[in-house]
Amino acid sequence: MSAPAAVSLLRDHLLQRQLKGETHVLLRPGLLAAAQDLKNRKVREPEPPPAPVALVETPSEEARVILDNPPEPTKPGTDLLPVTGGTNAEKIASLAAMAETWEPARKLGTLRETMVFSVGDANARLMLIGEAPGFEEERQREPFVGPAGQKLTQILKAMGLERSQVYISNICKFRPAIENQGTGNRAPTEVEMAACLPFVLTEIDVIRPQVIVALGGTALKGLGIEGSVSRLRGRFHEFRGTPVMVTYHPSYILREEKMGGGMGTKRQVWEDMLQVMEKLGMPINDKQRGYFKAR
Ligand code: URA
Repeated sequence: MSAPAAVSLLRDHLLQRQLKGETHVLLRPGLLAAAQDLKNRKVREPEPPPAPVALVETPSEEARVILDNPPEPTKPGTDLLPVTGGTNAEKIASLAAMAETWEPARKLGTLRETMVFSVGDANARLMLIGEAPGFEEERQREPFVGPAGQKLTQILKAMGLERSQVYISNICKFRPAIENQGTGNRAPTEVEMAACLPFVLTEIDVIRPQVIVALGGTALKGLGIEGSVSRLRGRFHEFRGTPVMVTYHPSYILREEKMGGGMGTKRQVWEDMLQVMEKLGMPINDKQRGYFKAR
């Protein structure tokens, strides 16, 4: 095994243990030196991805790896997956079948069993990308059907669109696991998103939407787009040749509404969606145009 591959494997292993709550691991004498040697081998081999851990030698024979540094982002994979079938719907179905047993995600041990694939029209002109399924999505095996999903459905309705007319995807196809999960959810980590990214890239390649909407900062990060939603929203960017509108995640609107606000964010999301409608050449009536002006 090459040094970068070994470091990457070690990093993944440590990250998994960190996600399970461990803060320290004990190493056999000599292992720390070997790990550092692997890290330092830059001349003959390409630079390995930075390890997410600080390696610290203790006075005793045993060395401890302290897991208190956040993991470095994983570089998104760029390979497309092989699809089968003649129609887009068949190709997407073949991808969904592949996702069911997707080892790179399963082997992480931090994602739940149930795979929740995308929903909607495989020939859609508009593709929306969220973060990961939550409790309700896992229960129904459909993305965006919980509270945030209902908010998204409302936004689509206001645009004059049914869910069945667009393609709704998540950057991570499994609900991220937490201890004592219940109905609790968390955002996927970069490692988890990277494990599922080939599906999203292949979905884009199959669907070839005219516009992609990235919902929230997690989806942005998962796509490898740098910057915050507040900085990037309001204008189109490009992702692999497709125009992307970045906007706030519907759960952000919900959170603000719960605190008695949300109007400003809703207005911004709506302004972003008006631009999407324009880009798609959709008719926009006066009510839609003035939706927030009238309030
Ligand atoms: N939030 C998301 O980003 N995706 C879902 O499917 C549900 C909630």
